[in-house]
Parts: sequence; C-alpha cells; structure tokens
Amino acid sequence: MEARPALDDAALGRDAWSVLDANWTGLATHPSPGIYPHQWSWDSAFTALGMARRNPRRAREELRSLFRGQWRDGMLPHIVFHSADRSLYFPGPEVWRSLDHDDAPRGVATSGLTQPPLHAYALWWMWRNGSGLDRESLRGFVRRLWPALLAQHAHLARVRDLGGGGLAAIVHPWESGMDDSPAFDAPLAALPVVRRDYRRDPAGAESDHDRYIWLAAGYRDSGYAAGYLREEHPFAVEDPMFNGIWLASTWALAQLAPVIGRDPAPYEEDAARIRAALIERLWSPSSGAFLARDVRAGRSIPICTVGGFGPLLDPGLPMEYITAMVALLESPRFMGAAGYPVPSCEIRAPEFDRTRYWRGPTWVSANWLLWRGCCVHGMTGLADIIASSTLRLVRQAGFRECFDPFDGTGRGCRDFSCSAALALDLLTTSRSV
Ligand code: GLC
Repeated sequence: MEARPALDDAALGRDAWSVLDANWTGLATHPSPGIYPHQWSWDSAFTALGMARRNPRRAREELRSLFRGQWRDGMLPHIVFHSADRSLYFPGPEVWRSLDHDDAPRGVATSGLTQPPLHAYALWWMWRNGSGLDRESLRGFVRRLWPALLAQHAHLARVRDLGGGGLAAIVHPWESGMDDSPAFDAPLAALPVVRRDYRRDPAGAESDHDRYIWLAAGYRDSGYAAGYLREEHPFAVEDPMFNGIWLASTWALAQLAPVIGRDPAPYEEDAARIRAALIERLWSPSSGAFLARDVRAGRSIPICTVGGFGPLLDPGLPMEYITAMVALLESPRFMGAAGYPVPSCEIRAPEFDRTRYWRGPTWVSANWLLWRGCCVHGMTGLADIIASSTLRLVRQAGFRECFDPFDGTGRGCRDFSCSAALALDLLTTSRSV
C-alpha cells in the first residue's frame, strides 16, 4: 500500500473535484490524463452520475457531449475522439475510420464499437438527485436526450440480439468495459489465427491485443454491417453486466417517462422481456450465478467475475436470484477473502491475477454498481460495507484506475475520473441509503 495522508471527507471531496477539473476539456471529462485522452462512453455515464448532486450542469454537459458521437442508427460509440492526433491513443480515428461511414456523425470522429448502456440510468440518477431549483431545466434536458436514448436502446434490440433470445451481444471484449476479463478468454482463444500484418510485433507471438485490433478491423471492413455481425463476425458474447445495465437503464426509462408526460408501460414491458431473457439464458443453477454466454460456441462460460453481479441492479429481479448472488458475493470467492473488495474475478479461479485490470483488481465503478444493487434490494448493511471499503481505497491510495484487492495498492493510471466522481457520489449518497 502506498503511503498517503489520511483524508477526512471534506478533503477527499476537494481532491476528487481537483481531479475532475484537471480532466475537464471544456466539453467533457477525460478518463485520465495521458493514457485516455478522449471521451469514453461508460466512463462519461459514471462521471455524470457522480457529479449529479454537486454539479448538475456539468453532469448534463458530460452526457450531451458524448451523444454528439451517436450514429444515425442509434449506436452510441465507446470512444468519442477529441483530437485527431494519432500519437495520443491507439487505436485512434485512423483505425476506426468512422468518418467514412454514412451513419456516423460528421465533424466528430468515433470508434465503431459500443459500451454498456448506462446512460439512461445516469440520467435517472441525475433526476433523482438533482436539486429542486434546477428541476425544470433538468426536465428539459430529459426531454431533449429522450429520443437519443430510445435510439440507443432500439439499436441494441435490433442489431445486437445475435443469439435470438432477447439479449444484446457484445462483439468485442472492449464493449463490456471489462476489457481483459477472463470471461472473454475462451471466445478470444477460439478466434482464427490473426494475420501477421495485424500484429504489433509481426515476428513475435500473437497477443490478445493483436486479436482485439483484428476483431475491430474485421467489423470495420464489413462497413460496420449488421448482416456481417449476424452471419460472420467470430466474437459474440451475452454478458451479464452489459445486459444487467441495459435492463437497469430500461427500468430507468420507465421511471423517466412520466417526467416528460410519456407512458412508462412500453419500457416496463421491455424490462420484463430483458429480465426473462437474462434468467433464461445466463442464469446457471449449478453455479448459483449469472455467467456470460458464448453465442458462437453455443455455451456458457464457466467463470464467475464481477460482471456476473450486473443483474443485481434490477429492482424487479426475483428474490431467489438475489439471495444466491449475495451468497456468492459475500463468500471467500469474492468479498470474504479480500481485504479491499470487490475483486473483479473470483479469487479461486486459476485466471485470477491481483495485478491485472479486470482479472482480479477492485474497481470503484464496479463497486458502485454493486453498492447500488445492494441498496436497490434493501441490503443496507452490505451496501455500507462496499461503500466504506471503496472510500477507504481512494482515501489511502488515491483515485487510481483499480486496486489490489488484498492490500489496496493502487494499479493502472492515476487521477482516474470515474474513481473520483463515484467517490464523490458515495461520500454523499451512501450516508443516506
Ligand atoms: C479501460 C477500461 C474501460 C474504460 C476505459 C477508459 O479500457 O477497461 O472500462 O472504459 O479504460 O477508462
């Protein structure tokens, strides 16, 4: 654990704001300086919901600027580029070539993949926690963003139901937000051998990164075609976190509909359909957990990761699933054996690695989702444990990207916006669960 002076709540809040201010471009918040110099989709949703109480105007700006990148068919890209400078980030606009695609927006370059659709949920959080004074302008914002949110959800239902069972499939590990999660090892390993000209080191062994680029390039070269995804694209996974978030956001649409005089019923029906599909396709009775499903191989992927807890966010999930998920979460496979929970992969799995991103470390963003899931189901004791251990991490190690689940050492980049924004939210909201 790195030494850092213990901070009281007020000092921690000030530190969080200085990170968010330093990462603000005037239009949006970079995930972090250096490594992530553009706008990432679910990071912006997390950042917006973290700022909802204390700076609702900027929270709105965050979502507004992200949706500038939305494609005409509703696809909300996982990166909106803020600079064409190739040296800043790879793969940059020259790899995605969105500007060559008719559906992509003009004047702003984006990636061609998406990320978990947390945005309607973030908007609902803004509405739920926004200040009374600002109510009418927030209502106006809900009204303006509404068609874009519906288009985003309709796109998932129309283009991404690759398994035909009512869930949205991700077509690249990056779309999960949990890029190197062991849940994607098997479908990645099953890909055809990557041609040498896609390899970073053509003389060396093929790496996961080569497979990532090759997968993205195949989709791009199809013209980002829905038919290609259906018939040919070799990677398609139904991920419980992606779909749990989709379900929670669909529920959020039902909550927001009356705010702008709409009927909530269609969104309630959509939510019921996604819930039923999640249970039918991803629940594994023998593991007592939601598992990702490899659509191409036609089987579920037998490893429990933090992504499996995504459906906890759904207020309508029947109790038997909640009870089983909480037993797993509290067991030594996740929280029970980690001093700084929640590890991103179950500790006993051979793939668990306490040092590598989504293969073991604890993330503030995943913890926030789990904290929220516990609140939704009235498990305030567990919610408090998650909130306070998350705040202990950032208090001790700073707003790092992720953390060693055993000793709390910071990992990945520093001054990570999601960690700062969500700590701000936990500082306020967790006191009033
Ligand atoms: C990494 C993370 C992903 C995040 C991105 C930008 O790729 O895995 O969740 O969106 O960085 O912060």
